[in-house]
Amino acid sequence: MRLRQVFGSSVQTRPNASPSVASNSVISSISSDYESVHVSWKDGGSSKFHNVWLRDHCRCGECYNATTHQKEFNILDVPLSIKPIDVAVNTENGLSITWPDHHKTHYDAEWLKKHSHVESKLPAVTRRLGKEQNSFLWDKNTIESKFPRPFEFAKVVSDQEELNALFRSIINYGLAVVGGTPTSVSAIEKTAARLGGFVKETHYGKIWEFSNEVMEHADTAYTSGYLRGHTDGTYFSHPVGIQMLHCVGHEGTGGLNLLVDGFFVAEKLRQTDRESFDFLTSRNIRFEYNSEGLLLKAHGPIIELDPFDGTFSQIRFNNYDMAALDYLKYEDVARFYKALREFTAITADPNNQLWFKLTPGTLLIMGNWRVLHGRSGFTGKRMMQGCYVSMDDFFGKYRAMTFDS
Ligand SMILES: [Fe+2]
Ligand SMILES: [Zn+2]
Repeated sequence: MRLRQVFGSSVQTRPNASPSVASNSVISSISSDYESVHVSWKDGGSSKFHNVWLRDHCRCGECYNATTHQKEFNILDVPLSIKPIDVAVNTENGLSITWPDHHKTHYDAEWLKKHSHVESKLPAVTRRLGKEQNSFLWDKNTIESKFPRPFEFAKVVSDQEELNALFRSIINYGLAVVGGTPTSVSAIEKTAARLGGFVKETHYGKIWEFSNEVMEHADTAYTSGYLRGHTDGTYFSHPVGIQMLHCVGHEGTGGLNLLVDGFFVAEKLRQTDRESFDFLTSRNIRFEYNSEGLLLKAHGPIIELDPFDGTFSQIRFNNYDMAALDYLKYEDVARFYKALREFTAITADPNNQLWFKLTPGTLLIMGNWRVLHGRSGFTGKRMMQGCYVSMDDFFGKYRAMTFDS
């Protein structure tokens, strides 16, 4: 292999050397060995790139679609032992490689630097509720004293900064309220379009509009009884991410909304009963729901941790939808019920519960992977609207909006 450094028309060839380059450059020198290319950076440090990684990351139009970020290159087209026949720093201070089949790859130096291997980058790849800088876990007192300001519907649908703040509220606390929301379903649809672009359709439909007087679905939520704290869609392999709820009318009493920070509950359990915490983070629990011609079944841990950094990634907790526990070994049954009781008791502690009455015009938005919701029993006719947005679409929109590549 030859190592070249190209400045305009002048070409040097120095095998396995570390040529110095222009003073305003990002790359200060390069060298290579039998399986990789080493790049020393002008501002200190160096990175090592494996040859097969470099070939796989060719960003030419043939190998990569820069618009969709989709790769065309097929790993079966080259041997794992592929070696460049030429490596050079090009005029733009990027890296240029010629491959044995004379395919040429040009890497932008900034791009290479950004994508050099740093293991601490792993957790940042996946955005999660509660992982932003200003996030905090909350119980009743904490959230009541730091309750995020209500957002304004008219601004949410028109103003980028208001939308940005709304996203951050949902990410930081798992909830937001939007005041001045019209009671027509199109208002919910507009908000969903701003938050993810698409409404997540389920067996409940796209946008639901229902009252307890018309039992459209067999679900417990369509009754007028007390609904204990839970997350929705535990019987989906990918539970619904964001839920919106709007009480557009209630002639009667009761019907208060309940919210509990599931991450707070999980953290409390970690501190008070480590054995139960370990059980709920490591064992898959099955959930199911049978309605509308679908027998939905899925499983997952009640407390899911991010595999990269161990932070909370998802709470899947719905006692109503828990399937028969015939998959647990007899020896695990008592451990499971102890853990379930402990977790449920923390969710049921009034010190950890936020109760409030939703009124027409106030749209509640919840991060369903974090925050449990419920409601008290009520009398009279209660009209609700709502919809879901998938977590992928929610974070997809947020990344695009904040230019997070
Ligand atoms: Fe629910
Ligand atoms: Zn290519």
